[in-house]
Amino acid sequence: MMAAHTNRAFWQDTFGMPGTVRESPLPKIDELGEHQVLVKVHAWAINPCDHMLQDQNMGFPYPVILGCDVAGTVEAVSVSSAGGSKFRVGDRVFGFTANNGFQDFVVLDDRLIAGIPAGMPYREPVVLGLTISTSAMLLFGKDYLRLDYPKTDAVKNGKSVLVWGGSSSVGSNAIQLVTAAGYNAITTCSRKNFDYVKSLGAIQAFDYKDPDVTEKVAAELDKGECAGIIMAAGLKDGNVAACQVAAASKKQTVPFSTSNLLDKLEYAPKNVEIRRPPPGTIPRFPDYWFETTAATFGGYLPNALAKGTYKAAPAPLVVNEKGLDGIQEAIDCQRLISQNGQEGFNEVIGRVSQNATTEMTMPVKLVVERA
Ligand SMILES: NC(=O)c1ccc[n+]([C@@H]2O[C@H](COP(=O)([O-])OP(=O)(O)OC[C@H]3O[C@@H](n4cnc5c(N)ncnc54)[C@H](OP(=O)(O)O)[C@@H]3O)[C@@H](O)[C@H]2O)c1
Repeated sequence: MMAAHTNRAFWQDTFGMPGTVRESPLPKIDELGEHQVLVKVHAWAINPCDHMLQDQNMGFPYPVILGCDVAGTVEAVSVSSAGGSKFRVGDRVFGFTANNGFQDFVVLDDRLIAGIPAGMPYREPVVLGLTISTSAMLLFGKDYLRLDYPKTDAVKNGKSVLVWGGSSSVGSNAIQLVTAAGYNAITTCSRKNFDYVKSLGAIQAFDYKDPDVTEKVAAELDKGECAGIIMAAGLKDGNVAACQVAAASKKQTVPFSTSNLLDKLEYAPKNVEIRRPPPGTIPRFPDYWFETTAATFGGYLPNALAKGTYKAAPAPLVVNEKGLDGIQEAIDCQRLISQNGQEGFNEVIGRVSQNATTEMTMPVKLVVERA
């Protein structure tokens, strides 16, 4: 039985201004629909899209509640769930929602959450939700690369997958997923992150700022069979570069999928096989995430996380422990990193150094914890 609560949310009343913390409706247990669970949030992760959605007019009917990645405890389970939910009140879980996450209590779909391994603090798995789901969609979805799914005991298949931008949040997950599916992960990132991407399973890393990167990566892919390219970082510049690699392959047509879903890719060379849903279908996102949950919450991930074979990456950097009252500070920090890279990160570390581990370097995922 759920105790009496009030709920608060971090509301975005319109774009181009900070959010405001105030009351938000709290659903009653008998209002929870099939698959829905109510979670009391203990940690929120910040994604670049949070500041982008705060800054730009995305055509939402305002006010909206932003925020995607949460971890916390199950407070209530839908009584109408057919066959019952696999979760129980009190379970520690993490997962994601397409916005609506910056609240004290969030309704989540039980197909988009997983249990947190014993002893793991909320701040670790909370970094995974949106980015592992995005990676899984791009790698395994029927409209995307259609790769084999990850398994805890996958056998190497000898094929390669290029993860363009392997040190990003999406890339960090893509490298781990393709490796766990038996592919050789080839990636690009800054030279300083070569060890990081290799620690996640990449077998080769190339510097995307090297003027010859296209030819070097294409030559590497042409040593064998390449199952596909995923553009996991860099907005349009990442798309352009990754398309050039696909086009430069001398011996194969390499399918290409992109995390930049708004870019129309009109400049892509004709011999690049682009795989993505038809324009105008972006609102059907949840369907895509449900389609590939065997690679994430509903299959491979919980076991692999418990065994330590899947890493909660990038590492969490706790901005503050102020709960919802600390969300705006964290969004401002994310904006600094997104816009100013290493310099922005250095400034953020200066602000929150008491929360950083001694050797904290980029890449990181910003996290806010409940007090
Ligand atoms: N976050 C999500 O779940 C999500 C969801 C849907 C779509 N997306 C899209 O996925 C992409 C990545 O998002 P994210 O949140 O994963 O980003 P992120 O974690 O903020 O990644 C930033 C890192 O990307 C790398 N990068 C930047 N430009 C690059 C380029 N041209 N080539 C290769 N690497 C480059 C840099 O790595 P180095 O430090 O090594 O230089 C940078 O530190 C964006 O296009 C975003 O719109 C993300």
